[in-house]
Amino acid sequence: MSNDAGQLTLDALFSTRAKLAGGGAEWAPEPDGTISLAYGFADPEHFPVKELVEATAEILAEDVNGALNYGPTYPGLVKLVVARMQARGVAQANPKNVLISYGSSQILALLPQILVDPGDTVIVEGPCFMGAVRSFQEAGAKIETVTVLEDGMDIDALEAMLADLKSRGIHPKFIYTTPTFQNPTGTLMPLANRKRLVALAAQYGVLIVEDDAYGDLRFEGDALPPLIALDTQGWVINVGTFSKILAPGVRMAWTCGPEAIIKRLLKFKVEGSSGPFLTRLVERFASDGKLEAHISDLNTNYRHKRDVMVAAITEHFPADVRYVVPTGGFFIYCYLPADLPAPKVIAAGRTHGVSCLPGMGCYANGQGTHEIRLAFSYQSVDNITEGIRRLGAAMKSVRA
Ligand SMILES: Cc1ncc(COP(=O)(O)O)c(C=O)c1O
Repeated sequence: MSNDAGQLTLDALFSTRAKLAGGGAEWAPEPDGTISLAYGFADPEHFPVKELVEATAEILAEDVNGALNYGPTYPGLVKLVVARMQARGVAQANPKNVLISYGSSQILALLPQILVDPGDTVIVEGPCFMGAVRSFQEAGAKIETVTVLEDGMDIDALEAMLADLKSRGIHPKFIYTTPTFQNPTGTLMPLANRKRLVALAAQYGVLIVEDDAYGDLRFEGDALPPLIALDTQGWVINVGTFSKILAPGVRMAWTCGPEAIIKRLLKFKVEGSSGPFLTRLVERFASDGKLEAHISDLNTNYRHKRDVMVAAITEHFPADVRYVVPTGGFFIYCYLPADLPAPKVIAAGRTHGVSCLPGMGCYANGQGTHEIRLAFSYQSVDNITEGIRRLGAAMKSVRA
């Protein structure tokens, strides 16, 4: 598109930020019959459809104006989130430091708006959820990456990085971490490391953005406290979501953190409240222990799918593919040997009718060339087994 004189194009009108972000990712359809293990979608067989229909009918019968007109976030949902946070040891949770949003992605995109000036440093895990990192980059953040080990973020490396940055006069704004069933590695940060991480944040005056998207999806072992439960000084912002424990399409999430942060987030959340209807719906669905019962069913289901994927990997992948069996979450993350680069495995997978996410899609610094992420959340157990069989055959074809 150009103006009458043919001098100005639409491109010339984009902001620098929009130009840097590019035109947006194209959705490349996969060939028919492909089994996708690429995306962290929820299991469509386990959406609580009947319960959502009933809750919707009840809400609309009770107060149609309250539910469907302009109006505030339903306070009952805030109360429910506060009670859930308190049950997880977050004594400081209260209605003033909890914010309901349209997905946790909304908050992960707003946090850099209130915390990051162009050139500021943000520390992230490598690999991690790049959906968040991209919004940090769009705000102009300089990204520093700390490796994820078998038990989550490498805290020794983080400590060395914080000291090094300080010695160079650099004060990072926040550390973005997913300590519980991390995306993509599925790792769980042990309690001792959680305590060290929170102490380091306080020592260096750096915020922690704790992405708790998978915190409730625990298949075995005891629950560990979220970082925010260990924080007595107000350095942790906990971001959680109903996407993984109810349905991503509902787009409801919560944030708990220092009140000053919540207030600023609200200023930038242009639509203000998160809508009376959806917030009522989620509260009605979740109340009286119904959400916890649903989570328990989900965990039985996802645990089984994880076991099916592990069994298939054991049978079909070369023995030198390494991975950690996750105790929760949606993913198994594989470290491939030198002769199996992820791009080649993925290209061969395409011809064998299976797809997965290359590790490079999970790093801000181009690492991950010999890593792949496999989601066990979405596909049926039969498709998981067949998808892994196909991927194993693809690996063997790359080697041959
Ligand atoms: C670690 C992590 N954080 C946040 C999100 C975004 O979730 P939401 O649906 O709440 O925007 C995802 C989604 O995949 C995720 O994996």
